[in-house]
Amino acid sequence: MELETKYNIHPLLEKRWSPRAFSPKPVTEEDVNEIFSGASWAPSAMNEQPWQYVYALRGTSGFDTLWDCLATGNQPWTKNAAVLFVALQRNTYEKNGRLNKLAMHDVGMANAQLLLQAGAKDIYGHLMGGFENDKVIEVLNLDENVSPVCMGALGYLGNADSLEEPYRSREKAPRTRKSLEEFVRRL
Ligand SMILES: Cc1cc2nc3c(=O)[nH]c(=O)nc-3n(C[C@H](O)[C@H](O)[C@H](O)COP(=O)(O)O)c2cc1C
Repeated sequence: MELETKYNIHPLLEKRWSPRAFSPKPVTEEDVNEIFSGASWAPSAMNEQPWQYVYALRGTSGFDTLWDCLATGNQPWTKNAAVLFVALQRNTYEKNGRLNKLAMHDVGMANAQLLLQAGAKDIYGHLMGGFENDKVIEVLNLDENVSPVCMGALGYLGNADSLEEPYRSREKAPRTRKSLEEFVRRL
């Protein structure tokens, strides 16, 4: 999809978007490991690396378990994803037990790198805040020091026309961004 950008951005950033139509082509374990390696090289406060990921490949019971945790609005289009994952944060620093107020920020950093690493392999990711938090905690048996941040779907691009409405229209809608003037100012 063509982006209308006033300034040039790196092709990997330009290519990244959040699709809903995924191809049946599977994503291999090797690809998944490469993608999570991309995440692991994100910066983090005190190099705490507070991110944790749980993933499952389509066609496994793990996939069904994660899919069941998604909000109903995310379930129809994620059925065809090659991979579903949950991004988790460790809430305290391992070194001193103090609350890590930047944990969610750093998981976001890791997620961004994950998406770009995937994009470099023509694999696309779609993050989701629409999921049942308590269900994730229950099915993954998380202790209170670990919290779900978001879920994600990964896969090769599929055909937008294979989607049911309203997802098909959303898939084809132009992407928009605030102008720099709206969120950047020089002092
Ligand atoms: C933390 C987070 C939560 C999101 N939650 C959802 C979601 O539950 N369902 C959905 O369809 N998209 C979700 N999105 C995708 C956004 O809607 C999407 O990133 C945004 O519209 C910009 O589009 P783009 O990623 O294609 O540039 C989420 C994205 C992020 C980063």
